[in-house]
Amino acid sequence: MSTSLANIRNEPQAVHDNRLEALERIQHRFADDRLLVRRGGQVTEIAPSHYKVGGLSSIARLGDIVEHRGHGRNRRGEIVQIGRDEVLVAPYESSGDVGVGDAVFTRGPIAITPHPSWRGRAIDALGRPIDGGTPLIRNATQDAAESIPPAALARQRVETGFMTGVRVIDIFTPLCFGQRMGIFAGSGVGKSTLLAMLAGADAFDTVVVALIGERGREVREFLEDTIGVASMAKTVAVVATSDESAMMRRRAPDTAMRVAEHFRDRGDRVLLVLDSITRFAHALREVAIGAGEPPVARGYPASVFTELPKLLERAGPGMEGTGSITAIISVLIDGDDHNDPVADSVRGILDGHIVLDRSIAEQGRYPPVNPLASISRLAGKAWTPDQLVSKLKALISRFEDTRDIRLLGAYQPGADPDLDLAVRQVPVIYEALGQSPADGPSLDPFSDLARHLKSKDRNHVQAE
Ligand SMILES: Nc1ncnc2c1ncn2[C@@H]1O[C@H](COP(=O)(O)OP(=O)(O)OP(=O)(O)O)[C@@H](O)[C@H]1O
Ligand SMILES: [Mg+2]
Repeated sequence: MSTSLANIRNEPQAVHDNRLEALERIQHRFADDRLLVRRGGQVTEIAPSHYKVGGLSSIARLGDIVEHRGHGRNRRGEIVQIGRDEVLVAPYESSGDVGVGDAVFTRGPIAITPHPSWRGRAIDALGRPIDGGTPLIRNATQDAAESIPPAALARQRVETGFMTGVRVIDIFTPLCFGQRMGIFAGSGVGKSTLLAMLAGADAFDTVVVALIGERGREVREFLEDTIGVASMAKTVAVVATSDESAMMRRRAPDTAMRVAEHFRDRGDRVLLVLDSITRFAHALREVAIGAGEPPVARGYPASVFTELPKLLERAGPGMEGTGSITAIISVLIDGDDHNDPVADSVRGILDGHIVLDRSIAEQGRYPPVNPLASISRLAGKAWTPDQLVSKLKALISRFEDTRDIRLLGAYQPGADPDLDLAVRQVPVIYEALGQSPADGPSLDPFSDLARHLKSKDRNHVQAE
C-alpha cells in the first residue's frame, strides 16, 4: 500500500471556505500600525552566520523578524542582539547573498497562527507547509509574541494515566496525561523508533511531532512508515533537518509548542514528541556563541540552560477547562556520557526518564529500555499495580547482578530459590517485553506478560 502525505492533505475546498478568515486577517494587519509602516535599515557588516544592520536599534525588539531585500527573493532573519547603533541578525537561510548597504525591514514578532486544519500536515520552523499540499489555513488572531506557561497554581493536576501500547513502558514507567518524559540514549540505540511507537498512542486527540536536526531521509520514514497514515491524520509535524540553519533548528521547538498550545487551549489532549532536545541545544549554542556569549559548560553558553526549562515548562497540564500537553522528548547522550550538561539539566526539569542501553540493544532486545534505570515520577498516579512491578524489578535486578557469576559457571540450581526463579523467568519476561513497530500496540501488557509466562511454564513442564 502506498502511504503518502498527499493522501491526507486538506481538501482545496477548505481554502475557499476560509475567505472570511483571510479578510479578517487583512483587517487585523491594518489595525496594527506597527505592521502598516515598515521601518528599514541597512546592512553594515556581514559574517558567515550573522549580519549587522544599522538604523533599526531604536525600534527593534529581541526576537523580531526582519526581511532582507536581496537580489533574489526576500529572505528572513531574526534579531538576536541589539546594540546602540546596530542590531545583529541571524538569518533563517544562508546569508551568502547579503551585501553591505542592502535594505532590511522589520516585520515585528513572529506570528505562528495554528488552525485545526493543520492536522495531517508537515510544516517548517516558520510555519510554512513543506508537504507540497495546499496553502495552510491560518487563524485570524495572532498569538502573543511569546507564549507564557499557565501559572503553577492555575494548572490542573496530573493524575490520569494512559496506555502507550508499548509494553515495557506501560509496565515499568507508566505515564499520565500532562507528564513530561525524556528518553535518554546514545546515538543509534533506538530513540527515534521508540518515539514513533509512542506517537501512535491512541489516547490522544492531537499529536505534534517536532523533528529537529534529524537526517532528511529519516523524516519521511518517521512520518509515513513508523507513525503510519492513521495516526498521521491527527498529527502536525514540524521539521527542521540537520542541514537547515541553526536558526531554523532553534525556532522549530517553539513553533511545535505553539501548535501544541493551540490544540491544548481547544481542550485537546495533545502529545508532543520532540526528537531531539540535544540538537535543539546545539542550535542554541551555535546562535548564542555567534552572538558573542561566552561558553560556560562544555562549550554551552549559560543562556542554553535558561532556554531549555523555558521551553519544557510550557508543556504539562493546562488551566482548568483546557486540555494538556504530554511531552516525550529524546535526549542524545553524547558518547554515552550520562553526565553531559544538557542531559543533566533536562533530567532535572522532566517528570521522569526512560533509559535505553546500548548493551541491551546489542543483545537484540528491542525496545532497549533498562527498566532498573528508568523511572516515572508519576507512576503512583498511573494505573500500574505497584507491588507486581516491584517484584518484577527485584527479579530482573537479581538476574542482572548475578550475570557474571553465572557466566563463570558458579551458579548451582537449588541453592537459592529466588535466584532459581529469576533465572527461569527473567529471560521469558525479556522475551515478552520485546516489541517492534510492526507488532502494533499492546492493549493489556500485564495479561500479555502473564500469558507468556504461563505458556513457557507449560512448555517447561512438558519438556521435563
Ligand atoms: N523496537 C525496535 N525493533 C526492532 N529494531 C529496532 C527497534 N528500535 C530500534 N531498532 C533498530 O535500531 C536502529 C536504530 O534506531 P533509531 O534510529 O531509532 O536510533 P536513534 O537512537 O534514534 O539513532 P540516532 O541517534 O542516530 O538518531 C534501527 O535502524 C533499527 O534497526
Ligand atoms: Mg534518531
